[in-house]
Amino acid sequence: MTKVLVATEKPFAKAAVEQIKALVEEAGFEFALLEKYTDKQQLLDAVKDAAALIVRSDKITREVLDAAKELKIVVRAGAGYDNLDLEACTEKGVVAMNTPGQNSNAVAELALGMMVYMARNKFNGTAGTELRGKKLGIHAYGNVGYYVAKIAKGFGMEVYAFDPFVAKEKIVADGVTAVDTIDELYSTCQYVSLHIPANDQTKKSINAELLSKMPAKAVLVNTARKEVIDEESVLGLMAERDDLIYISDIAPDSEGFLNNYIDRVFFTPKKMGAQTAEANINAGVAAAKQIIAYINDGVETFRVNK
Ligand code: 3PG
Repeated sequence: MTKVLVATEKPFAKAAVEQIKALVEEAGFEFALLEKYTDKQQLLDAVKDAAALIVRSDKITREVLDAAKELKIVVRAGAGYDNLDLEACTEKGVVAMNTPGQNSNAVAELALGMMVYMARNKFNGTAGTELRGKKLGIHAYGNVGYYVAKIAKGFGMEVYAFDPFVAKEKIVADGVTAVDTIDELYSTCQYVSLHIPANDQTKKSINAELLSKMPAKAVLVNTARKEVIDEESVLGLMAERDDLIYISDIAPDSEGFLNNYIDRVFFTPKKMGAQTAEANINAGVAAAKQIIAYINDGVETFRVNK
């Protein structure tokens, strides 16, 4: 029987798992679940006879694909697919997909939530600041960027965006000012929210040179990936500029941030931007539906490998 495995080190909400299971079984497939695994070997064992795989940020490496002899399709229930070895997927004839947009609102709500938390001095009771009237720059205007803009406008922020891959007209139609260059975005906005993927072009691209352009009391918000930050360079700037704040949903590799600038940084204990019941259901159900449509009818919408 065709086996669909959900393998999530960081588990989905219970309701999401139940809905995925129901869909998979209704389609006549077998459902299997591996959650909160602590050892790579558990994943290697579990994928052995799976024809389809649903994952989150779980690393689907060549080694995992080698072990998954029956695998036809892997769906990353989420947006960023930097955790999938696409080249190995293609070599092995495995279709790789993501589920764009399904968890974006959850990530956007967290970005704004963290901004409020820092603007209010981590809720320590002292007088903080408001978001209203402040300029927010959205670096990459995809699904998350869109929701961040929408919510930020509700707060009364002035929203700007830079995205060379999105038509200016689309950005402007959302009531957002589209800027032409990355420098313009950073030199205009006190707040910048990152929504770029982690790839060869973007890794370590957020550095002191760029952030030094930001106006006074600059706040960098990262709900994207830690790999896009040049940590040593940013730490150097934090030493020079005592007004620079860094907030992230992904704790950095360097301990220098927390050790030296505890009042100017905030990191969630575990990446949790997409960790809501709604986002888990949306992304998990979309992944299950994409698998069923691919296996039954060869539908390849949202395929990300060639
Ligand atoms: C994504 O790329 O969709 C987000 O980073 C969410 O990742 P997660 O599923 O590991 O929470």
